[in-house]
This record gives sequence, C-alpha cells and structure tokens, in this order.
Amino acid sequence: MTALPDKAQLYEAVLEETSRLIEGVDDLVANLANVAALLKQRLGFFWVGFYFVKGERLVLGPFQGTPACVYLPKPRGVCWAAVLRGETVVVPDVHQFPGHIACDPGSRSEIVVPIRDRGGNIRAVLDVDSDQLSAFDEADVRGLESVAKLLTALFPTSGGG
Ligand code: SME
Repeated sequence: MTALPDKAQLYEAVLEETSRLIEGVDDLVANLANVAALLKQRLGFFWVGFYFVKGERLVLGPFQGTPACVYLPKPRGVCWAAVLRGETVVVPDVHQFPGHIACDPGSRSEIVVPIRDRGGNIRAVLDVDSDQLSAFDEADVRGLESVAKLLTALFPTSGGG
C-alpha cells in the first residue's frame, strides 16, 4: 500500500503550487481566490478564506466554504486576536475562546495567520476553520505561515486598506 503524504509534505506541494498560481498575476482578489481554492482542495478544510484589515473592521475577502460574516468589528473574535497580537492564533475549541465569532455553527477549531505587506503592516488574515476539535498542529502553523509569507508580495506597502 502506498503511504499517504504527511501534512508537511502536503504543505510543501501547496507552497510550490501557490507560487506558480500567483506568479505574474497582478490582481489581489484573483490571487487570493485561487489560493483559497487551492487550500480547500488540497487540505480539505471546512472553511478557508481571507479577511482584509479596513480601519476598525475586518472585511470578508475571497474564501471557500459556507457564506461567512462580512464584517468583524474590532476587537472581538479570533481574527482580531491574530491582528492585535501580531501572531498566529490557534484555537483547539472555538467555544472556549471568549468573543469567538461563529459564522457557521459547524466550526469547532480554528487557526488565523496574519498577512503582512513588505513594510511589516498587517493587511489581512488567513482564516481556516475545521469541523473537528483540535484540528490544527505545528505543521499547519508552519505551512500556513509560509503561505502567508508568500502573499506578502501581493500587498502594496502603503497602509490603509
Ligand atoms: N471565527 C472568526 C470569524 C470568521 S469565521 O470563522 C469565517 C473569528 O472569531 O474572528
């Protein structure tokens, strides 16, 4: 029987595919839409997508999964926690996270990774939800942070949003 690739190998392949997908495409929405589709297809996430930092709100961007909350008001929820802490937030059980915003009741665990522009400003987040508890581990943190790093090049350095 052929062994299934482990998660780290899957992420390696996803990273290569991400580079290829975004290469030469000068359109943020088109690129993020393709990256969301790739992550959903390759890693089978329940929900995966992007929120843009726009002043006091996070605003829904390209995603794959069930329809989601359009606006996330500062400072509530897991996505804002990642922006305000400036680091990846892993939540093994969303019901234990004070202020968690439930866009879909099927979501049980979550990981949110900040995406910075070249100037280091956080411009968006990559949000992934699972319908299983404790779905995200170190391999997901490393893999999704590497994807987020690749996406840095897509954002112009000026702030705003
Ligand atoms: N759970 C997120 C909201 C976005 S949905 O998961 C798609 C949060 O608490 O910020």
